[in-house]
Amino acid sequence: MSGPNTDYDPVEVTPLKAAEVEAVRDAALVAIEAAGSLDELRQVRLDHAGDRSPLALANREIGALPPQARKEAGQRVGQARGAVAKALAARQVVLEEEHEARILVDEAVDVTLPWDRIPTGARHPVTMLSERIADVFVAMGWEVAEGPLVEAEWLNFDALNLGPDHPARTMQDTFWMEPVENAIVLRTHTSPVQARTMLTREPPIYIVCPGRVFRTDEYDATHSPVFHQVEGLVVDEGITMAHLKGSLDHFATSMFGEGITTRFRPSYFPFTEPSAEVDLACFVCRGVDSEHCRTCKGEGWIEWGGCGVVNPRVLVACGVDPDRYTGFAFGMGIDRTLMFRHGVADLRDVFEGDVRFTAAFGTEI
Ligand code: DAH
Repeated sequence: MSGPNTDYDPVEVTPLKAAEVEAVRDAALVAIEAAGSLDELRQVRLDHAGDRSPLALANREIGALPPQARKEAGQRVGQARGAVAKALAARQVVLEEEHEARILVDEAVDVTLPWDRIPTGARHPVTMLSERIADVFVAMGWEVAEGPLVEAEWLNFDALNLGPDHPARTMQDTFWMEPVENAIVLRTHTSPVQARTMLTREPPIYIVCPGRVFRTDEYDATHSPVFHQVEGLVVDEGITMAHLKGSLDHFATSMFGEGITTRFRPSYFPFTEPSAEVDLACFVCRGVDSEHCRTCKGEGWIEWGGCGVVNPRVLVACGVDPDRYTGFAFGMGIDRTLMFRHGVADLRDVFEGDVRFTAAFGTEI
């Protein structure tokens, strides 16, 4: 390696000339100031302060200068590089701040804006109550049964000991499907599911059947042409009215709370013998000071549904041996149960589909 070239005149080395260093420095400073983003600044840094930038190349020339010339050239280039480095750092700070400020603006969430999401719906309280009722019986080992809404007249009436001329047929105002000679109705109660089950299965039978029923009733605060019932049917050996009473007491307690039992009043249904109306102990006054109770209106009891021991004629019509088996059955209004349970004053609220009514019952999954 040869020593330094003492003849070397820095003034003659173009990249180290004062005017040249200044021009390169100024070009760098202009470019730094012009960089509009961190990405652009990165490129400017490479071009003006990187290994192959004019100032870096000039810096390399210094070592080749004669010692007396190095100091001045070194100072000149060093100052220029320092100025560029400082300008880069300052521009970096400014651009980072701008970048962060922009993120804050772009990604800002205005929590005061009115929300416009579609409100969450809620399951209908009749659906929820129907499932809850079914759960009470499923927990006792019963099964849930279903039947069609459009039903054969024979299953809706005749099989249940409601023959064509039976006066009780007029108790249920019926929707007939056209043509009427086809003898098809919209089921007037859930009781045909009893007949369908007995016709297709052998006892023991323990079923509960919640569902929709139809009658030509006026639509008012307590009536609707469509409503919901729950039917229960047990057919087994040795079944008595006592089993019926115990099952209904358990049902009442599950729906309305501890101590709310049932009482039977003699009644008549063609499909049961003996038959009873089921009353529910008033769950508001519990029979105490009932004169002032607005729920039971002084009765201490609320009418809930019908029930009885399955009429042997029904067992026979449905192919069950009445000498071996006995059974009990009951039927209640689900909408009515909902109205008691939740203080719904007008049945129409149950059917009008206003989401404010439904949502008030909360969401159950
Ligand atoms: N099906 C009757 C009705 O809709 C209710 C009923 C009463 C059902 C007595 C029964 C029962 O199973 O045993 O009016």
